[in-house]
Amino acid sequence: MSNKTFYITTPIYYPSGNPHIGHCYTTVACDSIARYKRMQGYDVMFLTGTDEHGQKIEQKAAEKGITPKQYVDEIVEIFKNLWSYMNISYDRYIRTTDDYHVEAVQKIFKALYDKGYIYKGEYKGKYCTPCESFWTESQLDENGCCPECHREVTEAKEEAYFFKMSPFADRIEKLLLETDYLRPKTRAVELVNNFIKPGLEDLCVSRTTFKWGVPVTFDDKHVVYVWIDALSNYITALGYENTAHDDYAKYWPADVHMVAKDIMRFHAIIWPAMLMALDLPLPKHLAVHGWITFNGQKMSKSLGNVVDPLVLGERYGADAIRYHIMREMALGADSSFSNKIMIDRINSDLANDLGNLVSRTVAMVFKYFDGTLPAERESDPIDDELIAMAKALRGTVDGFVDETQLNNALAEIFKVISRANKYIDETAPWVLAKDEAKKARLATVLYNLLEAIRISTTLLSCFMPTTMPKVWEQIGADESLITYENAGKFGVLPENVTVKKGDVLFPRLDIEKETEELNAILLKNAPKPAEDEDKANLVPLADTIKIDDFGKVDLRVAEVKACEKVPKAKKLLCLQLDDGFDTRQVVSGIAKWYEPADLIGKKVIVVANLAPAKLCGVESNGMIVAADVGEDARVIFVDKDIPNGSKLR
Ligand code: ME8
Repeated sequence: MSNKTFYITTPIYYPSGNPHIGHCYTTVACDSIARYKRMQGYDVMFLTGTDEHGQKIEQKAAEKGITPKQYVDEIVEIFKNLWSYMNISYDRYIRTTDDYHVEAVQKIFKALYDKGYIYKGEYKGKYCTPCESFWTESQLDENGCCPECHREVTEAKEEAYFFKMSPFADRIEKLLLETDYLRPKTRAVELVNNFIKPGLEDLCVSRTTFKWGVPVTFDDKHVVYVWIDALSNYITALGYENTAHDDYAKYWPADVHMVAKDIMRFHAIIWPAMLMALDLPLPKHLAVHGWITFNGQKMSKSLGNVVDPLVLGERYGADAIRYHIMREMALGADSSFSNKIMIDRINSDLANDLGNLVSRTVAMVFKYFDGTLPAERESDPIDDELIAMAKALRGTVDGFVDETQLNNALAEIFKVISRANKYIDETAPWVLAKDEAKKARLATVLYNLLEAIRISTTLLSCFMPTTMPKVWEQIGADESLITYENAGKFGVLPENVTVKKGDVLFPRLDIEKETEELNAILLKNAPKPAEDEDKANLVPLADTIKIDDFGKVDLRVAEVKACEKVPKAKKLLCLQLDDGFDTRQVVSGIAKWYEPADLIGKKVIVVANLAPAKLCGVESNGMIVAADVGEDARVIFVDKDIPNGSKLR
């Protein structure tokens, strides 16, 4: 085994519901990188797992009348089955309920306490008695009530342990601003301005209001805060502070932690602080991707808009799904899921470009040479560009994989595939075939095509592991030739290579029909939140009003021209809106759910005649309309073609 090591991790997922295509993205992306690194000769450790403690799990299990462990056991099985279906080649699966992890977290907590970084204090906050939950000021709903049940909260205190974060502020700021830890780097300034500049607050790291967690050994009323428990998984899984594994020295620090933006802060600030406090080396990179959204909203179970990867996989195959989600997602940005875009992409890239290239090439070797190329060659300058592109491909893909830009890596591979298709048109083998004297030239053209296919599919196999071996069989590439080293060379297939007929790799889809059918299936399958539970959570309907009363509210369409966070007010965003008449400034309590970049350029509805008010000292002229969805607020976006200033009625 090589002495070059590579350690990559996904987040450990909450087994609080079935996994969906959003979870698949991170896992498939990490899997592709892990496969690529293995192909490059690295000794890879690819870790994934489940984050099984916390109040939410405890509650869900209680609702079902089973123990939390029984509850998570069932869902973990579903996660593991999905990963096996998606061909996820993880090397280790950690469950935070594993004994070795629990024991190690207890030791980590105690070590931080012994070093003086964890101390006992008093947690003051807003308490919701019916929910038995503490909330911070910033978690409360718009009316200052419990974000869960929307009832009143009271001031309350509770004994708790805290983690001192301030000693690490300078080092974390440097890590974010001066190193390439965070990818994309554009997020670093925002994190520093929002969390470090205002002063890093101590973090409450124990709870006494529920039991389903890792008990604090020296004070068993308390359980360890889930994020301290969860983040530790990246080192406990290697054997840190436990004897179940012995890989810490070999693999730590991690090369890549990959997460979505919702949990960036925990990995960019709290995790480095924990490691600094423990005197441990920091991971090399944190790659942050956006969300897979559906109709502009984050896909999540509570919104009932999840796309089931198994339903898609059954129709198109796991590889096509893997390809689609990786091709669509750019580092840092959201990617909107649409059945139509997916079907289009499967058709154009996989069925047309790749599938056609392979089937046409193989068919021509059969048609003109009975399946085996003659050894004679005759090159032409027209070959040079394709050969140069194919030879350079490995280097370009290496770069993008190292930068965690998988969409770009795939785009480069498909450039070579497209170039090869164009080469068929340029060289017109069917014309060459008519001339006996052009046999060597014809063989050269077909050989070059087979080589371009071999190189591109060798690299592609890390992203789409099940289909590519079928291609190699068809193009007569013995698996021993499929190596990283050979992917950098042109001319590896034997000169008198024999090809083989095979099945169609990706059947062409009827876009309209397929989109319609898929839309219907996904709608039917989308897990609807339990209706009764849902109704009970709804705010009761208000008393009837007259149309004149409604007429008093002036609702207008407005476009977000600029948006920024309000310093020192974690909940607030300050937006500059074009309301059709003028620019108006509105302050809105939606910072928990939206980054400024998510809103700029979008059209929203503003309550335009609301009396001006000052929120945290910032003037607000109106209110953005949003809907309460469970614990979240969702801004109502409006079609781009409705002019600014249009009045709602
Ligand atoms: O946050 N689009 O677990 P989690 C893209 N247990 N990625 C998505 C997604 C979407 N719509 N939905 C989920 C937790 N993800 C913690 C993590 S780590 C020490 C603890 C992916 O089950 C994405 O990678 O809520 C996100 O970071 C992760 O699932 C969060 O999963």
